Amino acid sequence: MPRQEDGSSGAVTRRRFIGLAAAAGAALAIPRRSFGASPTGPAGRGGRVSEYHLSPRVADVDLGPLGRRSLWTYDGRYPGPEIRVREGERVRVVVENALREPTSVHWHGLPVPNAMDGVPGLTQPPIAPGESFVYEFDATPAGSYIYHSHQGLQIDRGLFGPLVVEERSPHVAYHREYLVVLDDVLPGDPPDMARHDRDETARRDGSRRGMGGMMGGGMMGRGMMGMDGMRIMGSQGIPDYLALTMNGRPAADPPTFETRMGERIRLRFINPSGATTYRVWIAGHRMRVTHADGRPVRPVDVDAFDIAMGERYDVVIEAKNPGNWEITAAPQQGSPEPARGILRYVDARPVQPSGESSPRGRLLTLADLDALDAHESGGALSRDLEFVLSGGMMSTAWTMGGQVYPDADPVEIHKGERVRIVLRNMSMVLHPMHLHGHFFRVGRAWKDTVIVPAHMGEVALEFEARNPGRWFFHCHNAYHMETGMAREVRYVD
Ligand code: C2O
Ligand code: CU
Repeated sequence: MPRQEDGSSGAVTRRRFIGLAAAAGAALAIPRRSFGASPTGPAGRGGRVSEYHLSPRVADVDLGPLGRRSLWTYDGRYPGPEIRVREGERVRVVVENALREPTSVHWHGLPVPNAMDGVPGLTQPPIAPGESFVYEFDATPAGSYIYHSHQGLQIDRGLFGPLVVEERSPHVAYHREYLVVLDDVLPGDPPDMARHDRDETARRDGSRRGMGGMMGGGMMGRGMMGMDGMRIMGSQGIPDYLALTMNGRPAADPPTFETRMGERIRLRFINPSGATTYRVWIAGHRMRVTHADGRPVRPVDVDAFDIAMGERYDVVIEAKNPGNWEITAAPQQGSPEPARGILRYVDARPVQPSGESSPRGRLLTLADLDALDAHESGGALSRDLEFVLSGGMMSTAWTMGGQVYPDADPVEIHKGERVRIVLRNMSMVLHPMHLHGHFFRVGRAWKDTVIVPAHMGEVALEFEARNPGRWFFHCHNAYHMETGMAREVRYVD
């Protein structure tokens, strides 16, 4: 079967530095220990356990032209170190919390056992400062995933990294691959949503008593102000970001992705951003979308795609247009300049990168995604639910079915049920809705995160209830999640 044909193989290949562009420096997590486990034990089919260590801590990160910034990181790396394992392998990750706050790690997209899902207060107690927690699960199915903190707004401070589960036999051939990690960087601490809520309430009570108007700051217009007049959220209800980055590099110092004429390159785009959806395109090249949220799809050629918080898309490009070409990831909300990278043909004369200020041609749609592994047991629909997504106008609360998590009823389901959930978006912004512990069927695709478009957008998803536990279901905009747009999906018996 077509594997990466980069000349390396075996153990070296598996641990090779593969993903982040050369300029970004090494970002590969080397397992401290990798040992054979008892073949009769609970280890994966390969009988191996790969052990990794992650230490969440505050670090000074060099952001090139943006200077050094204090971010919350795994192991001092931004993005966090790459975890790369083979399909079916047993993975153990020891997380040692070196922050002054509690934390947790969630394996976004991987349907792990509930106790390993990393949602503090739902699947585990938070990991206290100085404490550690051992996560262990089977790496299946193959795909491009994200690991990230699930505590408060920590993901938007930098606590995330890529997790790749390599497939045994990819349905597409390629010569090399790169990870492309997109992020929005805050200028400092995230806005204090609790404080903001108190201020908003005070402001509204004030205006009701006829003394308002001084504080200013409607949400959709000029941005939201605290009582002290400080701007703490930008317009459109997302923070004012300092910059957008690709593999940790700002646009003024972009990462380089090298290729040679005639090669096929696989790019795994992942978006662990706090609140930014991107439109992605590559000057001079079309992209063949091969995987959505890590799951294989019938290859489809496009010129651009949108990727929201929590989503992943793998694409393959054919290098047959020598030069230096810009990879652009433009924010679909807010005003920071796009994240950029350079696709560089090493056998071409160095020239200024050519970019395109907007994509031309075909934009990927949900309807284009056609899952390759379509098999499912296809039981009869036994639970049909609907949630209206709302918020953003007069308050900072974002709601699901009119309720604000954690003051919200759990969604109760039974093992073996086939569940359908319709999501209707009554707000002015899109919501990438993510279900833990399950892939769901949306249209003809398998996904775990799906964009519910703004202004009356509607999406229906379906899944089989076969992974018991208490699962989080929420908007992957960190600020929407934090202020209520979430539910627990609970297996009851
Ligand atoms: Cu990416 Cu609730 O998670
Ligand atoms: Cu949202």
